[in-house]
Amino acid sequence: MSATRLELDVLTLFPAMFSAISDYGVSGRALDRGLASLQVWNLRDFTTDNYRTVDDRPYGGGPGMVMLAEPVALAVQAARERQKLAGVSAPHVVYLAPHGRRLDHAMVMALLSRQGLVLLAGRYEGVDQRVLDSEVDETVSIGDYVLSGGELPVMVLVDALLRQLPGALGDSQSAAEDSFVDGLLDYPHYTRPEVWRGQPVPAVLTGGDHARIRQWRHRQSLLRTAALRPDLLAARGTSDEELKLLVKEDS
Ligand code: ADE
Repeated sequence: MSATRLELDVLTLFPAMFSAISDYGVSGRALDRGLASLQVWNLRDFTTDNYRTVDDRPYGGGPGMVMLAEPVALAVQAARERQKLAGVSAPHVVYLAPHGRRLDHAMVMALLSRQGLVLLAGRYEGVDQRVLDSEVDETVSIGDYVLSGGELPVMVLVDALLRQLPGALGDSQSAAEDSFVDGLLDYPHYTRPEVWRGQPVPAVLTGGDHARIRQWRHRQSLLRTAALRPDLLAARGTSDEELKLLVKEDS
């Protein structure tokens, strides 16, 4: 699967926002290298009236506006057709919304196993439920708080996906060492100078003993996870070797 590029289509009312991922950093480089292709569609281009209307008042009353079903359906159809031409047999359609399943590393990896994703960013109070029922395969939230639209959540998801693609990170970096990959938080990092404002780098890191450094980092990951995210540690468990590592003197 890693040899084929990931096909991504984004449906949004604010396409210009997506330069934040296409023009910068690891995500920009992954796209430049052709590891994935990102097509951003403007939902307003799929409106059917002269005013290019994308929203209307909610049936039943209440505050805010609701995105119209038809432009969303037409945009999903356009994205599905583009993906089909790119060789994707069954694009997976994801709606980003606060009521979705909360995104984590395992979900990122599961989404990565798809050949193609169509990512719908909502605005206003939401999207007409009928088009969601007929077109969306999965609803994803990036956390228990509400943003003003799905664009930032889509970008969060795309960035998390792209950095996992083989070749996205430089030789010296590795997504395999990120936080969450083995159920633990990342260990602390240090660079020059060796003493900064009176604080030295932990001696083990300058000693050149790579086995000891690996062990120290593993222990730091365990300690940090126990302190900051005991829920992660409880879900993952700890091996006998790790328990031994934890009670060892910090040297
Ligand atoms: N849209 C608004 N808030 C969101 C969230 N927390 N996750 C995903 N999409 C959203």
